[in-house]
Order: sequence, then C-alpha cells, then structure tokens
Amino acid sequence: MEQSLPYDNRIDSESSDQVVNPWEVSAKDGGKIDYDKLIDKFGCKRLDESLIDRVERLTGRQPHKFLRRGVFFAHRDFNEILDAYESGERFYLYTGRGPSSEALHLGHLIPFMFTKYLQEAFKVPLVIQLTDDEKFMWKNLTVEESERLARENARDIIACGFDVTKTFIFSDFDHVGGAFYKNMVKVSKCVTLNKAKGIFGFSGEDHIGKLSFPAVQAAPSFPSSFPHLFPGMDKLRCLIPCAIDQDPYFRMTRDVAPRLGYSKPALIESSFFPALQGENGKMSASDPNSAIYVTDTAKDIKNKINKAKSGGHQFSEDQHNLGADLEKDIPFKYLSVFLENDSELELVRKQYGEKKGNMQTGDVKKRVTEILTEIVERHRRARAAVTDEMVEAFMAVRPLPSMFE
Ligand code: TRP
Repeated sequence: MEQSLPYDNRIDSESSDQVVNPWEVSAKDGGKIDYDKLIDKFGCKRLDESLIDRVERLTGRQPHKFLRRGVFFAHRDFNEILDAYESGERFYLYTGRGPSSEALHLGHLIPFMFTKYLQEAFKVPLVIQLTDDEKFMWKNLTVEESERLARENARDIIACGFDVTKTFIFSDFDHVGGAFYKNMVKVSKCVTLNKAKGIFGFSGEDHIGKLSFPAVQAAPSFPSSFPHLFPGMDKLRCLIPCAIDQDPYFRMTRDVAPRLGYSKPALIESSFFPALQGENGKMSASDPNSAIYVTDTAKDIKNKINKAKSGGHQFSEDQHNLGADLEKDIPFKYLSVFLENDSELELVRKQYGEKKGNMQTGDVKKRVTEILTEIVERHRRARAAVTDEMVEAFMAVRPLPSMFE
C-alpha cells in the first residue's frame, strides 16, 4: 500500500541514522544507506525478479545490466506500465537533471544510460527537464550561470546517445509558461504549506522560491504540459526513471494527480553510486576526491581507483585464506555496476570474494580501471561530437512524429 497522509517521509529527523532527500544523501557514522528502510519509509516497492523477467519478455531483449544488478531497485506502479504496454498502450519517459556543475561524474550518467536503454527497448518518447531554476534557487549561482550549465549539461546528456526523433530536452527558464504553467498552478493549489513541510522539510526560514519549485518538477509528469508533443493524449502514461532521492517530488505529484483528473506517474528508482571512499553517501560533484568525472584522464582514474576503499587484504596470503569483504569493496561495486559480462563478474565474485580464490585487490582495481577509462573516453569522444546545432535540435519545441516507432 502506498503511504497515506500525513506524510512521515522525512528520513532526516534527529533520531534517524540516515538523511535522504533531494538535497542531501548521507548515512551516519560512516554507515551505509539502508535501502530496505528507505523503501519502507518512502512506501515504494522493491523491483523483483518477476518484473525484470517481464521486461525481458515484453522487449525481447536482455534486461539492462542496471536491472540485472539491482542498480535500479525500487518502483511505483512499474507493473501497471508493463500491463498497459502489454495490452498495446504506450507511455512516455520523463527524467531530468539539475545543472549544478560543469563536470558530470559517473553517478550522474547512470540514470541517463538507463533511460536511453528504456527509450530503445520500449520505443517511446522522452522528455528531459533541465532544472536551471532549481539550481539557481538552491545553489550560489546566477541565473546566467545556471542557464549556461544547463546547456553544457545538455551536451553530456545528448552524448549518452538519445534519439533526437524521440527526445525533447528543455530548460525551465525557457519552457515554463503556457500549458506547462497551467499544470504547475493546478498542482500548487493542491499542496498546502503544511504538506510541503512534511514532504520536503521546509521551514519558515526557507525562501518562497523553494516552496514553489516542486510544482515545476511535477508538471512534466503530465502529458498535457507538452501540447506540441502529446496533443489529445491526456491519458498517456508517464514513467520516470530517477535516483531514489527524487522520490519526495513524485510522491507529491502522485498524491495530487487524481484530483486533477490525471494518471499518477510511475517510477523506477535507482540506488546511489557510491563514493570512492566508501558507501556512506553518493558521489558528490562538489568533492573532487569522492568521484570519477567524465573529464578525468586515464591517469586520474587509475590514481583514484588505487586509493578507493577496498574490502580486500593487504597480504596475499590473508587474501587467499579469507577472501575480500565485497560489501565494503568499492572497486568491486563499480565493477558490478559497469561490467557487461555476467559470467566474468561471477568469476571475480568467487576468485576475489571467497576463500581460496586467486584474485588480489590489485587485479580487481586494474580491471575496473580499464572499464571506467573506456566509458569515460567513449563519453568524451561522443561529447566532443555534439555540435551547437544538435543541442538546438534536441531543445527545439517541435512535434516528434515518429516517437512511438
Ligand atoms: N531535481 C533533479 C536534480 O536536481 C532534476 C530533475 C528534474 C529530475 N526532473 C527530474 C530528476 C525527473 C529525475 C527525474 O537533479
């Protein structure tokens, strides 16, 4: 059952040992984020094997490694999206990015890589919101700088390989208005200050810009916000791939949707990509040592991985006799996110994680360095090939005539 009002969703209360909201992700005392607890508190569901099998059957292709490996691990009504799809109904995808920094790190790419797969596998249109307004209000950025970062980030997003015939990227500064704005005010009217305080933890000291923003992030969940894309398709369902820290926005959106006569957006939610120093938070764009950036050189990556928190043993004899603690091993975690080949991963799990294996920490680090270097270099080449005209093309307000093909 979905949690009903009043919202008891703040994991950021004093008594709690972890903070997860759109602005902060951390576990106390170097501990790990407890995702089961998060699912309980937020009231979403675990993405189980049977759903993943269904994705395979419906799309006729192997599910993405982020599904196989549990990177995307929670959902709301994803089963309903699949039911509808099976009966011939289509849906659209909605995701976004808050442009707070120039250089993206690998954790930022995860939702976009996954969204690209969903777009291809289900053959559906996609809208991508760049919340330049959000970052202006929350960070120490000027309007102009937020706008510039939105365009820079659009290049990184396009470099992930989206199909321009099925994808609309927009910045809030450009696009809020018209039908989009009408949906924003409809949402706003349904959310009291008390409710917003409950969901987002706003206080009397927060400026009113913060209070008004959740309606901006809610609006793209409704097809009528995009009359150039979905005219007369008010019943079209929406699926939102995102990291689980965005859940509060969409809990609010889902709560108000029926009152507006709209369907609730479905969600498919990921865990956080762990920081190099260990799994008590996510990679942070503001801490250069916590993350691997898409702008890092092969040498940077090698150095960072070498310093990453390991669960292995320093002496090869101990390593052989005891095996590594994979739960604590960041290089292994990264490998399990990005290594394509399931049987190779299984081999590493055995040879490194179990007793009597013959792999050392250095072997795992070397392999993951190779893989990440390849991803980062591929991204860099793809980004360099993104021209201004391509950015314009993705961001042009236009119909997408072949968006379901
Ligand atoms: N608030 C998100 C961020 O700071 C950006 C965002 C807007 C988003 N709409 C979204 C993320 C939809 C996921 C899905 O990054």
